[in-house]
Amino acid sequence: MTAALPTAWRSVLPHLRTPMPPDRTPESAGGSAVSVNLPMELVRQSVLEREYWQIPAEVADAYRRFRPTPLWRATGFERAVGARVPVYVKYEGGNISGSHKLNTALAQAHYYRKAGVRELVTGTGAGQWGTALAAACALFGLRCKVFMVGSSLRRKPYRGVLMRMLGAEVHSSPSGLTRISAEPADRIGNSLSLAIGEAVEYAAGHEGAAFSIGSGETYSILHQSVIGLEAREQLAAEAADIDAVVGCVGAGSNFGGIALPFFAESAASAAGGEPPLLVAAESSTAPKLTRGVYAYDKTDATGSGPMEAMYTIGSDYRIPDAHSAGLRFHGAAKVISALRHSGDIAATAVTQKDALAAGRLLTLHEGVLPAPESGHALAAAARLAAGGTDGMRARRGVLVCVSGHGYLDLAAYEQLLDGGLEDEAPDGPALLAAVSGLAPVGAEREAAASGRPLPTAAGAWS
Ligand SMILES: Cc1ncc(COP(=O)(O)O)c(C=O)c1O
Repeated sequence: MTAALPTAWRSVLPHLRTPMPPDRTPESAGGSAVSVNLPMELVRQSVLEREYWQIPAEVADAYRRFRPTPLWRATGFERAVGARVPVYVKYEGGNISGSHKLNTALAQAHYYRKAGVRELVTGTGAGQWGTALAAACALFGLRCKVFMVGSSLRRKPYRGVLMRMLGAEVHSSPSGLTRISAEPADRIGNSLSLAIGEAVEYAAGHEGAAFSIGSGETYSILHQSVIGLEAREQLAAEAADIDAVVGCVGAGSNFGGIALPFFAESAASAAGGEPPLLVAAESSTAPKLTRGVYAYDKTDATGSGPMEAMYTIGSDYRIPDAHSAGLRFHGAAKVISALRHSGDIAATAVTQKDALAAGRLLTLHEGVLPAPESGHALAAAARLAAGGTDGMRARRGVLVCVSGHGYLDLAAYEQLLDGGLEDEAPDGPALLAAVSGLAPVGAEREAAASGRPLPTAAGAWS
């Protein structure tokens, strides 16, 4: 299905029913969070209620090498899962990074270089984000340093090789290069939040360097809107009707990218039609949207940045190891969380066994090997199209974003084929403990009104 490359990103900020709760400065920082060297245009994109943002010419030129991305009706997959309605796949795996992450990496590299930054530093889980940033830095002439979750790098060493091919310096996290990585392992774990914490700390201490993040920020969700904007046009060109949109959620930029342009369109249109059901598919090992609390939490293990209002399972929770490293993040982006809180998006949790089984069906019946992360969205889409899930069902058609390819994830599929795949169920008491110190969003208002002391997020759970 054809489409033109969008000329502007589309923001959801003008359409939120209630304003996003403001960030909070962490008490541990003595009132001043580490200042992240953020270009003004990215700040503006994060806060202004402006609907359209022109895509800069050099970013659009770079996009043209791999966009518009393909969208097709997946009839083979439909038959395999017993779908009663059409399933349309939007595929973001066909670029050098292998995932949607390049959409924001290119934009960020452009804005940071314009702001005079010479090196971008980041943390990566599955490695797609690190690869995307390395590719964008190579294209725009910046140095790149990547802290990659150690367990993930050991599982996928070729991700590291690809980033190095693209000129990046790659460190296994915990790296030993930063203060936070020297803390005891049982305190810091080995999650994406630690890798991000290392990158924040490193960038803050080095002249000319800036920390860059791939997903949870409002501006990265804006950049990803190219996915949904293209998809809307591609579906319209074929008069294809859908009433559900599915994307997997790490922090939320992939889901936001495919889903929020549909929300914005319906909110902005004079007729105000119902938006499709927007379903975030998360990993059952990091179930922030289905089992988390809406509270202020850290975005990384150092807690050096501001506390944000998010659905979270607690940044201290040790997320069980799983193949979908890109979904092993404790919280959802504040925009995604605000929309979850207002009831404008829905969520469902998927085990890695189900995700990889759905990924295998796409491989067998569509000839496309998806990333394990994308398998979560495919499993959720299959359920919506076949019979329904968590009280939700598609009646006309489903659009699902396949966020990346799985060529460097074949070890995960090997385990699926050999029957060795285990799903570690989240531990209820540990989840409860991880959120017990967090302040629920809106707690001050309620406490002031009732005269009672501030509640904790664990109270919201019990
Ligand atoms: C292939 C793939 N899909 C989805 C995700 C999750 O994306 P997001 O953080 O944008 O929700 C990742 C993150 O690394 C990924 O690599």
